[in-house]
Amino acid sequence: MKIKQSEFVISAVGPSQYPEDGIPEVALAGRSNVGKSSLINKMLLRRNLARTSQQPGKTQTLNYYKINGELYFVDFPGYGYAKVSKSEREAWGKMIERYLRGRDPLKLVLQLVDLRHPPSAEDQRMYQWLSHYEIPMTVVATKADKVSRSQWPKHMKIIRQTLGMPGHVPLILFSSETGQGRDELWSMIMQSAEI
Ligand code: GTP
Ligand code: MG
Repeated sequence: MKIKQSEFVISAVGPSQYPEDGIPEVALAGRSNVGKSSLINKMLLRRNLARTSQQPGKTQTLNYYKINGELYFVDFPGYGYAKVSKSEREAWGKMIERYLRGRDPLKLVLQLVDLRHPPSAEDQRMYQWLSHYEIPMTVVATKADKVSRSQWPKHMKIIRQTLGMPGHVPLILFSSETGQGRDELWSMIMQSAEI
């Protein structure tokens, strides 16, 4: 994918603010700090379009980024941040559920997990939730540069086993530092979004 143009569009707090132009959407879910914003920046070859310095756990909006006028990345608020109150967590759940259930332009969800660690209980819940809605999904293991190459297969196996991923669900290794996995992920996205 040749990036001709990329821009931040909106931090949407609810459906009335979601774009209405029908352009396909690819959403990114994952723990706070897993590397969602860094992945968006690397995919778009932008240093700091998606903010990587936001206060963790505080963003309760869906952040829309538009690419070449033909695709959106939708950055979900990160989960798993300890200091978030129960009511904030519930609000988060409601917003995400509503989006996942009723969002017609949604073509693919990227679930990000950290290659270094076994997926958490919340990662497992998120994965099950996404499977339940039968939305096409790809799991992306981030921070691959932090694990030595010889250990990759072992870590990938643990991720597949812990999430209970069937063989047909893709698992892509990614690094925002080295750009590893970028081409593979673009192919996946373009295929799913039919662009
Ligand atoms: P929230 O917005 O809080 O949900 O976090 P996030 O998922 O957007 O994470 P973010 O992209 O802000 O990255 C968190 C930290 O991890 C930053 O310090 C990044 O530089 C670092 N990081 C992200 N991806 C990678 C990677 O592939 N390799 C390495 N070495 N560091 C990474
Ligand atoms: Mg972020």
